[in-house]
Order: sequence, then structure tokens, then C-alpha cells
Amino acid sequence: MKVDLNQDLMQLQEEFLQAIDLAVSTQQVEELRIRYLGKKGKLTAILRGMGALSADERPLAGRLANQVRADLETQLTTARLRAEKKESAARLASEKLDITLPGRSTPVGCRHPLTQIIDEICDVFIGLGYSIAEGPEIELDKYNFELLRLPPGHPARDTQDTFYVSDAILLRTQTSPVQIRVMQQNQPPIKIVCPGKVYRSDTPDATHSPIFHQIEGLVVDQGVTMGDLVGSLQLFARKLFGEQTEIRLRPHHFPFTEPSCEVDISCWTCGGSGCRTCKNEGWIEVLGAGMVHPEVLTNCGIDPDVYSGFAFGIGVERTAMGRFGIDDIRNFFENDVRFLGQFR
Ligand code: DAH
Repeated sequence: MKVDLNQDLMQLQEEFLQAIDLAVSTQQVEELRIRYLGKKGKLTAILRGMGALSADERPLAGRLANQVRADLETQLTTARLRAEKKESAARLASEKLDITLPGRSTPVGCRHPLTQIIDEICDVFIGLGYSIAEGPEIELDKYNFELLRLPPGHPARDTQDTFYVSDAILLRTQTSPVQIRVMQQNQPPIKIVCPGKVYRSDTPDATHSPIFHQIEGLVVDQGVTMGDLVGSLQLFARKLFGEQTEIRLRPHHFPFTEPSCEVDISCWTCGGSGCRTCKNEGWIEVLGAGMVHPEVLTNCGIDPDVYSGFAFGIGVERTAMGRFGIDDIRNFFENDVRFLGQFR
């Protein structure tokens, strides 16, 4: 009996040693543990036979059984550690991140160059205490022309031939009607700039577009003079084109200002000596201006004996073309990202 149990134990150990060599995964090792050392395992089955042993055989058999159990446990632990190491290495290899893969980039846009210039110009005037005003692009003939002293049949209307919606309604040809709207709603002191789109039925070419932008300026208060106008415009020119920039006023005619002038700034390319940009003039025209005509003030309910004012209208495209060195106005409106992407 004693011999049998010992033999059983040795055989079990032998068999286990072969099995453990083949167990490569943690799961296989765990299955072996259950098969040999579990409650219903092979070792337990053999130990059940201990009851049949005599009292003096039992301690010896017991010791042997304990040795076998300890040996099996050691082997199982070693095998489990080995399997765990292998499995974690395999997992690490399969979960490896390929950091050489290029990332997905989101293209970053930028503001349109005209928007950039408009913001920049408005910021200069906001710095001088002006507010921003707005008016509709679909405008009444009355505001766009009549109250600005351009009655029906006035020759100056021809140079701004426009898109009429009806006899009385049109796409505004200038931002000047905003002057009327602001003066009708507010008493002086008034100090506004109004950026916006304007429309004229021009055929597009390098310098003409049926849609373009202006920034209107209007200041009305007691004692406002042409000197104030010059000071404001000089500051505008220097902020946009550099401290060395000069402005020049040339007499002109606008029906809504008296006196009126066109304002040139010293050429941003040559500084005034003459080059291709300024067509050898040394100067580039960028805006019209003047003292608000007393009749225009009266048209809006402002007393010209008490108040005076100046106004100006800046050509945005012209200014932007100068600032960015663009030679064709159509670039602004074709929405070609190869062009627009250069203004980041
Ligand atoms: N509205 C004029 C134009 O489109 C520009 C202009 C000239 C605006 C003189 C003014 C001004 O406010 O005073 O040609």
C-alpha cells in the first residue's frame, strides 16, 4: 500500500513535469494548477488514499506528499511568470504606436486681406475717438444722391452709374449716404467711420470692379476746420504706410462738400521720387474729402451757423493694393485660396 502511494506520487510528478513544459500561456498554466492541485485534482485524489495507510506509514507518506505539492507549486509559479512575461511582450508589440505616421492637420484660414485693411483703418480712427456706423447696401436714391446735393439729372450721377432696383431704390454707389442717416438720427458732436461695400456698373479690369469697398468718415461739431481734417488724415496715412508718409490735398469737386479735395499720399514704393507704382507721380490718390456742405447739414436738421464738419471717403481696395503690393483688383473677389492664403 505504502509503495503504491509513493509510486503514485512519483508518477504524478513525472507526468506533471512533462505537462508543465508544454504549458506556454497563463491560461494553460492555470488549467494545470487546477488539474493537479485543485480540490478535485490529481494530488487530492491520491491523498485520499492516505486513509488506508497504517499509523506509522502515514507521516512518511505525508512528508512526501508535501514535498511533491511544494515542488509542483514552485514549478507552476515559474511557468506562470514565464508565460506572463511572454504575453506582456506580445501585447506591447501588438499595441505599439507608429509615431512616424503623419498627423491629420486642420488647415488654418485667415481673414480676407480687405477685412484686414478695413479693421486696421477703423482701428486708427477708433483710436482718435470715432465710432463705427453702418448703413444698408440697398439704399434710397434720396440718401445716395438727392440729400447729398446730387438731384436727378446731375452730371456727377453719370460717373457713378449704378444698379437700380427701382427708380427710388439702388445699390449704393458710395458710403456717403451713411452720413445722411447718421446726421438725421444724431445731433453733434458726431464722429463716425463707416466701412462697407459699394456698387457701380463698371466692367471689371485691373483697376475696376463692380463691387468695391469704402470707409466713410464724418465729424460734425462746433468749430471743426479743414485743419482737423488734415490732421486726422495725416495720422491715418502714417499709421498705415509708415511715419515718413506725407499727404497732399488737391482741389476737387464733390457736390456734398465745400471746399472739396482729393487726397494723395506719398508713394509707398518710392517715397515720392517717382516709380512704376505711382506712374512717376510720386503720389497716389487714396481718398476724397472736404468740409460738409452747409446745405447737407440743413438737409439733416443740423444748423450750419452753429456747426461745421468734415467728411472723407477712403478707397479700401486702393489702400490694400498699396499695402500688399497687389496689381490687380480682381484678385480680391475671385476667392482663389492660392492668393488668399498669402495673407496669414
Ligand atoms: N463718396 C465719394 C466717392 O465715392 C468719396 C468722398 C468724397 C466721400 C468726399 C466724402 C467726401 O465723404 O467728403 O467718390
